[in-house]
This record gives sequence, structure tokens and C-alpha cells, in this order.
Amino acid sequence: MMKLAAIAGLILLSSASAYSVNKTTGAVYFLTNEVSGNFIVSSAIGADGKLTLGQAFSVGGSGANGITGPTPQPDPLFSQGVITVSGNQVFTVNPGSGSLAIFDIDPCNPTNLSIVGKPVNSGGDFPVSVAVSKRTKQVCVLNTGTVNGVSCFKQLGTSIIPIPGTTRSLGLNQTNPATGVPNTASDVIFNHDETKLIAAVKGTTTPPVPGYLAVWDVNPFTGALSPEFTKVTLPAGGALPFSITPIEGKNAVLVSDLALGYEIFDFTNGTSAAFPIANQIAICWSTFSKKTGNYYIIDSGRNIISEVSVDPVATLKADTVMQYTMPAGSILLDTDVASIGGNDYLYVLAPGTQSIIVLALPGPLGATTIQNFAFADGLAAAGVKTDVFALVGLATYTA
Ligand SMILES: *[C@@H]1O[C@H](CO)[C@@H](O)[C@H](O)[C@H]1NC(C)=O
Ligand SMILES: *[C@@H]1O[C@H](CO)[C@@H](O)[C@H](O)[C@H]1NC(C)=O
Ligand SMILES: *[C@@H]1O[C@H](CO)[C@@H](O)[C@H](O)[C@H]1NC(C)=O
Ligand SMILES: *[C@@H]1O[C@H](CO)[C@@H](O)[C@H](O)[C@H]1NC(C)=O
Repeated sequence: MMKLAAIAGLILLSSASAYSVNKTTGAVYFLTNEVSGNFIVSSAIGADGKLTLGQAFSVGGSGANGITGPTPQPDPLFSQGVITVSGNQVFTVNPGSGSLAIFDIDPCNPTNLSIVGKPVNSGGDFPVSVAVSKRTKQVCVLNTGTVNGVSCFKQLGTSIIPIPGTTRSLGLNQTNPATGVPNTASDVIFNHDETKLIAAVKGTTTPPVPGYLAVWDVNPFTGALSPEFTKVTLPAGGALPFSITPIEGKNAVLVSDLALGYEIFDFTNGTSAAFPIANQIAICWSTFSKKTGNYYIIDSGRNIISEVSVDPVATLKADTVMQYTMPAGSILLDTDVASIGGNDYLYVLAPGTQSIIVLALPGPLGATTIQNFAFADGLAAAGVKTDVFALVGLATYTA
């Protein structure tokens, strides 16, 4: 009895001392994506969800801007998932060099990254999105340049090596850098049980041909992909699927579509439905908050975040339950949620103001802006170049 109590006391003491130092609770990462040199920038998330600038790390290659017309536009990659966090690692690409890079995250100081070996050829060109299997750590890159499709890799020590039978073409007639926004691949994810790899592919506008979801089977032993993909067609009205966000606890996904709003695909019975959002211009990014149980989708053209509620039973029933208007000129792009001390926060990259907008998500319908974190001056002082047309990507990590 005495002995047990003493041991319990000891454990309590040591855990108390482990938490007595207030460490960074998390980090947010984005890419400078400059042609002259691509950097991943970390910012520390404080206990209140607010950000402070961390460090910039070379990704070992160059950024790139997709082609949209005679003048440059923000949103250089037409994609979601260009930075993916899994475990204590962050996975990203050099869109201009066509390479994949992996960084280890220091869990005691998640603004501190160290690159794993050297970046490797992404298996195509103009890589724009990365999916990582939680179970096998298989890393799959989506390329949408001249050589487009997916290609998967695994880490062996400090080497990143291609997995045989995973370079699969989408057969898009494309350029490098890619010409968009239509006719480009946008996002790649593993499905809920990691038996399938899913990519969103936007359609063409002239002639008007709707996009689709490309679905490959993943071999559970080798990680190889089926030679051909299955084409999942969009519900009526869908055309330009952009981001893919898994629906919590379901074999289903929410897909943003800048032609109309968003779509839901329920793979259990192969059904789908389209959900137009009135007056939307460019709904391209999406994420989910466990705390509120709702999805957040970003309209880049109107600087509006829409909060979407999906029926937990009837997956194909959904509603826009609230809209939040961000400052004019923000130009909202990639977004992610972090859970800090039981509270959720939504982070949105705003290249128009070279900032990250931080919203507290205390509950459904209650998103409140708590910070507009401007990073350009801090990075310029450190000699890191940023600009409105190149900035892209956002992913969070919590220890
Ligand atoms: C650490 O965090 C706790 C809880 O937020 C706070 O009460 C305490 O003052 C902090 N300690 C230091 C040294 O900042
Ligand atoms: C960052 O991580 C590296 C490698 O893990 C380590 O050597 C270094 O001390 C860390 N620096 C900081 C400031 O935590
Ligand atoms: C590919 O696109 C280019 C430019 O639009 C066009 O000239 C060419 O004919 C296309 N090639 C094929 C095989 O469709
Ligand atoms: C498909 O499944 C979803 C929920 O899992 C349900 O809401 C929907 O009614 C089903 N549709 C059909 C045609 O079975």
C-alpha cells in the first residue's frame, strides 16, 4: 500500500515537472513558393490560439505560379494539401522543381523543422498536393503539370524512395507550370480506411466537360495502385471539384466545387449530391472542426467563410448554417483547424494581406476572429521574400 502510493506520487511529480515549462502547443506552416527559392514558414500557436512568427526553412527547390492569363493571380497551385502534417512530420513539395520534401517536426518546439535527406523527384511535374497514410506512412504526390497523375514514396532512413507500381497518369493535356484553373488536378487524399487514393480533377470550361474524382485501389501489402483509376462522376451542376475533406466517421467526403459551392459523395452506396451556395465566386478550400462538428469552406472571390453542417445520419443532407465575411482584400486561400487545450481554432492563409487570419471556434455558429497575423515584415527582416501571388498552403500541427 505504502509502496504503491509512493510510486503514484513519483509519477505525479514527474508529470507535473514535465508540464511546468510552458512549451509551444502547436504550429502553423505555409509556403513562400517563390521561384527564386521555396521556404516553409512556421509560426507558433500560443495557448490562446494566437500566432507568433517562428522560422523559415528552405524546401530545397523552387516554387512556381500556375498560368491563368496575361497577369499573375493569387492561388498559384489551384490546389489543397500542398502541405500535409502526419505524425511528427510535415510533407510538402517544390512545385517549380518537381520535388517532394519531408521535414521532421521537433515536438518540443514544433516551429523547428529539420529536412529528411534531400528532396526527391515527385514522379511528374508541377506537384500540388500530398497525401500520407497514417498506417503505412506511404506518401502520395499529385502532379498536375505536363507529366500529371500520382506517384507514391516511402521513407527509408534518410532516403525517400519511390514505391513500385504507384506512378499513375491522369492523362490531362497540360503545361508546366500548369494552366488553370480548369483542367487541373487539385487535391489527393486516402479514404477513411486507406484502401483507396482519391484525387479531385477539375473539368474544362471550353468545351464544358465536368471534372471528376479519380479513385485508385491501394494494395494493402505493397502500396501499389491499381493501373487504372475509377472515374466518379459529379452530381448535376458540379464541374470544378477542388478540395476533398473526409466526413467525420463516414466513408464519405465533402468536396468544394468552385462552379457551385460543394458536393457530398457517400461511397457506401455510391450516391452524391450538390449543394449550391448563392452568389459564391470561388469556393476552393475546406476543413473540419471536431469541436463544432461543422465544416468550413472558403470563398476566395468573396472573402467569405461558410460554415456547413452535415447531418450525422443522412450524409447527403447538409446546410450552410452561417457565413463570416473577412476583411476586403484578404484573398482567403488554404485553411486548417488546430485543437489547443480543448479549444478549436481556424487558420486561414490570406495572401492579399500577407497574413494568417485566426478564428476561435467555441461552438457551432460562433466563429470569431481573434487575430490577423501579418508575417511579411518579420520575414523580410529575416531576408525571406514573400508575395501575394506565390504564397500558398496551410497546415497545422499540435503536439
Ligand atoms: C503556464 O501556463 C499556465 C496555464 O496556462 C499558467 O497558469 C502559468 O502561469 C504559465 N507559466 C509560465 C511560466 O508562463
Ligand atoms: C531544432 O532541431 C534540431 C534537430 O532536431 C536541434 O538540433 C536543435 O537544437 C533545435 N533547435 C531549437 C531552437 O529547438
Ligand atoms: C492540348 O492542348 C493544346 C493547347 O490547348 C492544344 O493545342 C492541343 O491540340 C491539345 N492536344 C491534345 C492531344 O488534345
Ligand atoms: C446512401 O446513404 C446515405 C447515408 O449513409 C443515405 O442518406 C442515403 O439516403 C443513401 N441513398 C441511397 C440511394 O441508398
